[in-house]
Formats: sequence, structure tokens, C-alpha cells
Amino acid sequence: MFLTREEEAILRGEAGPGAKRCMELLVAIGTVYDAERLVPISSAHLSGVSYKTIGDGGLSFLLEIAEDARVRVGTTLNPAGMDRRRWREMGVPEAFAQKQLEIIDCYGRIGVETGCTCTPYLAGNLPTRGDTVAWAESSALSFVNSVVGARTNREGGPGALAAAIVGKTPCYGLHLDENRRPTVVIEADVGDSLLDHSLLGHVIGKRVSNAVPYIRGVKPSPDDLKILAAAMAASGSVAMFHVEGVTPGAGELEVKGLEKVQVDRREIATAKESLSTGKDPDLIALGCPHLSEAEMKELASLLKGKRKKGDVEVWFCTSGYAKGRCPKEVGVLEKFGKVLCDTCMIVSPIETSFSCTATNSAKACTYLPTLCSQKVVCDSAERLLELIT
Ligand code: F3S
Repeated sequence: MFLTREEEAILRGEAGPGAKRCMELLVAIGTVYDAERLVPISSAHLSGVSYKTIGDGGLSFLLEIAEDARVRVGTTLNPAGMDRRRWREMGVPEAFAQKQLEIIDCYGRIGVETGCTCTPYLAGNLPTRGDTVAWAESSALSFVNSVVGARTNREGGPGALAAAIVGKTPCYGLHLDENRRPTVVIEADVGDSLLDHSLLGHVIGKRVSNAVPYIRGVKPSPDDLKILAAAMAASGSVAMFHVEGVTPGAGELEVKGLEKVQVDRREIATAKESLSTGKDPDLIALGCPHLSEAEMKELASLLKGKRKKGDVEVWFCTSGYAKGRCPKEVGVLEKFGKVLCDTCMIVSPIETSFSCTATNSAKACTYLPTLCSQKVVCDSAERLLELIT
């Protein structure tokens, strides 16, 4: 891979050992994927934050990097294993919490904005169409590729961190026009609820794996797109998709001759059934990806004037940004559960307190059994909230 003089100097260690390690990683990635060069990025978003997922090995790596390296571009952080202020109420063990706070502190020293969320594009880190970025978090990177029209590969945590510190990323994959074109057409005949979009994403991801789908037959809202992107990236590894009449530039794309895949209501119902492995949830967790301000308002209006019954725990997972924007609605939601920031049902250690989790997110349903040892109830937010009112 071609390197400029400045990049060669970083590789020799002239910008410090942390930056050298990062440049070595970028060169290794670029070599594997046959990138010709590095390209400058305008922002980064990092995964690898929860102590549950990165453990002591990840923390040691971060401690070393934090000694001398700093990010060169605006960089945000994915959810951590707990709400920084309410971890005791969540039942998070003290030892876990201390490690988690140390991880977030490391990122802060590196210069990363530490308002942990998987919807950074709704919380101040919103690229513009055509921007080159390096984002991890499969749901967020698929959203910015597809809905915003920025360009990122499906970065892992270390690759995105290295790109943030060097300010560049190897130019291959979804940075190139030819890899952003649709490779399969999805003809959807499905309902229009948030859950329908989530299940549609689940089915598409399973059917097309890592293709670039061009979806027809739906008119998703921004929140539908958010949950659709998350589900497709979890059941498959879709990092870029188009929706006819909705996503930027979809009207100019050539789809003639592409393979067609039909998805109908029966398949959506089957997907919901197959994701549901439990019956009586002890936790209802909404907000995968993190709830937007609009979703918080919608949930609050569903619950307003009602009273909570039973002792099922309810979590509304969101960003500090969205929470701060709707204090009145937060007051309503808090009567029924906890409005949690910085974290989610997958990356927090819920398995220490719960055994069956209910959610409307197909992405969460995919990971809850394997990463959190949970039985799962998959249903719409409306129906799940009926269980507690
Ligand atoms: Fe976000 Fe956690 Fe879901 S990081 S997309 S809420 S699994």
C-alpha cells in the first residue's frame, strides 16, 4: 500500500508509540484488503467499550494507547456495560463497574467524546453525504452508509480506533463506488410497523448475508430505517442497503437483471415466532438501537395516564442527548421503568439478574440468547407495554 512521507514517519514511530501501533494496524488491514492508499476521514465511531465484551485484554490495550495517542477527528463511543450514574440500580456488580469506568476514562484521555450511544448520528456525530468516515457498530455504520450517504467499511473496534488516531483509513470496500451498488433486489410485501421493519431486516440479513440489498415495497421512517439497518447487520452482515424512493441516490441506481428475493407477511410472522424462545419476561428492554427523541415521546404518550402493574423490570435505552431533550416524557417513562443512558440490554451483564428478556428489536433477539443467556420474547413495544399496564 502506498504511504505518504507523513504516514511513513508515523509508521517509524515519529508520532509516538501509540500512533505507530495504530498505523501498523491500518497498514496490515490495507494490505489484507488490497487497498492502494489511506484516505482522510472526517469522523470515527468506536465499538469495544463494554467491559463485558473487551475484558482485561481490551483494557490493557487501551491503557497503552492512552499513554500518548490522541484522536485526530471527532470520535464517538458505543454503549458501555452500564449507565454510568445508575449502575447500582441496574444490579451491575461493583468490580465490573470499576473496570467499566476505567475503560471509559481511557477513551476520554484519548480524546474520544464519551457519551456512549449506538445512535451517534442522532447525538451530534452526523456526517454529511459523501463524507469518508471510519465507523464501527454495525447498526450505525449501515445507517450512515445507506441513509446518510457517508462512506465507511464495517470497521471493528481496533480498526476504527486506529483510524481515529491516524485520521485516515485504508481505501477499499465500501469506500469505492463499485462496491456500493445494489447486488440483489428485495421485493417486500410486509406491514409498516416498527416491528415489521425490524423483522424485515432480520429476514433480509438471513437471506442475503453480506450483499447490498435494494429494497422495494416499504416507505420506512427514520426510526424504521434505524431498526431495519440494525437487524440486517445482525442476522447477516449487511453494511449498506438502498430503499427505493427513500435513501439518497436510490433513484439513479441500475437494478435491471439483479436477482430478486420476495419477502412476505408470512415470512415475517415465522421470523417473529422463531426469535421468540420464552414466555414470561422478567425484563422488557426497548431501545436497540437507542431510542430516538421521537420514539421516547411516542412511548411516553402510550403510557401517559396509566399505572404500572406487576414487577417486571422495564428499561428504555437511549442516548444522554435524547434523554436530555424530553424531560417531561422521561418523567412519564420513569414511572414504569428506568430510562438508561450509555448502555443497552446486550452489552450490560443482564444475565446476572434476568433470564427472559422481551424486546421489539430483532437485533437484540438475535444476540440475547448467545451473548446474554436469555430466553426471548419478540413483540411490538405496544404489546409488551400492555404486559405491565
Ligand atoms: Fe445498540 Fe446495543 Fe442494539 S449497541 S444496536 S442497543 S445491541
